[in-house]
Amino acid sequence: MTDDITAAVDAALGRVEGAATLEAIEAISAETLGKKGVLAELKSTLSKVDDIEERKALGRALNQAFTAVGAAIDERRAQLVDEERSARVQAERLDLTEAMHQANRGHLHLVTQAWQELEDVFVGLGFTVAEGPEVETDWHNFEALNMGEGHPARGEFDTLFIGHDENERPGDSGLLLRTHTSPVQIRTMLESEPPIYIVAPGRVFRRDTPDATHMPVFHQIEGLVVDRNISMADLAGTIEAFTRAFFGEGFTSRLRPSYFPFTEPSAEFDIRRPDGSWLELGGCGMVHPEVLRAGGVDPEEWSGFAFGFGIDRMAVMRHGITDIRDMYVNDIRFIEQF
Ligand code: DAH
Repeated sequence: MTDDITAAVDAALGRVEGAATLEAIEAISAETLGKKGVLAELKSTLSKVDDIEERKALGRALNQAFTAVGAAIDERRAQLVDEERSARVQAERLDLTEAMHQANRGHLHLVTQAWQELEDVFVGLGFTVAEGPEVETDWHNFEALNMGEGHPARGEFDTLFIGHDENERPGDSGLLLRTHTSPVQIRTMLESEPPIYIVAPGRVFRRDTPDATHMPVFHQIEGLVVDRNISMADLAGTIEAFTRAFFGEGFTSRLRPSYFPFTEPSAEFDIRRPDGSWLELGGCGMVHPEVLRAGGVDPEEWSGFAFGFGIDRMAVMRHGITDIRDMYVNDIRFIEQF
């Protein structure tokens, strides 16, 4: 009978070790330790053993068998409970890293990116950032910039006028949507004393039908420097420093004679790409004495230069965009590329 007990214990321990589920372990428990289990059956045959000492010894052996198998079952059950819990936790886990990869983080608009980078470069060159209103007076937008009523250059700006009632003729109110950022030159001179070193980025408006290269609403950045003994060389040097800082090594600039009512002399500035091709960027020149006077600055004491160019064009060129309208239709397939 001792052999039977040993065999029963070995068999039970072997099954416990191989049990893969909680159901299996409960079945083994019932079949070995239960009322009708193998060990209980062996126990019921004890009465047939006549020798008292042998019966006692077998009884002890059976008790040890119950204890040993019971302990093995408890241990395996605890293991299986643990394994099942971690499997469930694993299955229900929220994978937050993946969620972060999947979420679409937006980004700044292409024009905003260019705008901010331009500001950064000019601030790095010692300029501060100035602002002016988008609804301007005719005086700030034209008159003070040496484009009085009837000046032919006015015709080049397709101006959007602000009216208060429908019987008004365009321009009667004296208010308009600014056609360029140049009026900020006037406002800055009137509000502060030289020396002045500012850039003024902002939205401007013209009565244009949208096409691949024009939008009725677009963006410019204006620069104004007023100080003692400012010359054309300072202007050229500033444009060149800006070109290198913004576009990078290998880019240079040149000035070409031109005409603007608010500067004398006037120039247009081009950027030379490393491949040798030229890119027209904007206008510039020495601030006209009449413009300094309109800003309350004495042209006998002070001189200055100014420049202005389009921000949208800048964004378009940098990314090789062929149609400026693409930047504004909010097609996610386009936007996501940048
Ligand atoms: N305001 C001009 C335009 O919109 C650009 C410009 C030219 C600005 C020459 C300037 C300048 O400050 O000096 O076409």
